[in-house]
Amino acid sequence: MATDFRIVVLISGRGTNLKSLIEAAQHYKIAQVISNKSAAPGLAIAAARGIPTSVITRDEYRSLDEQKEAILQAVRSARPDLVVLAGFMQILPPTFVDIFQDRIVNIHPSLLPKFVGLDTHARALAAGERVHGCTAHLVDSGLDSGAIIAQAAVRVDANDTAESLGAKVLEREHDLYPWVINAFAQGQILTNRGNLSFSEGLITEAQMFGFSVGSPPR
Ligand code: GRF
Repeated sequence: MATDFRIVVLISGRGTNLKSLIEAAQHYKIAQVISNKSAAPGLAIAAARGIPTSVITRDEYRSLDEQKEAILQAVRSARPDLVVLAGFMQILPPTFVDIFQDRIVNIHPSLLPKFVGLDTHARALAAGERVHGCTAHLVDSGLDSGAIIAQAAVRVDANDTAESLGAKVLEREHDLYPWVINAFAQGQILTNRGNLSFSEGLITEAQMFGFSVGSPPR
């Protein structure tokens, strides 16, 4: 389907979320995939579908700042409507976050605000959580701290390991993330300086898929 909503996907690794974004692209076009790791398996997934890829690694530049500037310029030249982080393991510099304010999203493997950062599945198990999941959120200058767009929950079973729990969560990530990006592309999610609003239709649809929309009640 022809669409003029352009996204750029930033990856660092295996690219299973990228794959789900490619397969479920209805209302958006993946203009470019950028990786900060040359060995990222996600690059081959994109290339196999004819999606342009760029590799911008730290060791090609004199400093980390210069490499991050190169990523910013590559993203800008792809003219994205939305910057989509999918397992991108670098902190974006404040200038990047400012330039693309309200237009950067990430998928995180926990029900934020719980378990910011790494090793979320092991930490959820250690904390005795009965429910765990994933979150699509806006990116701001903090760590996993931007406004929550939508979440998908999974049950934690008594015999779950970090691996089995991670696999269940990942499956839901693959449903949730493309759904969120398609919704952005259709104008069903609006952003204003870090605040979000959602169309009525989107909220109804979320219920059908078992997703929650917006921040969870405190
Ligand atoms: C996912 O668990 C995602 O939640 C996190 O990084 C991982 C990326 O996995 N941000 P993949 O590269 O998409 O397979």
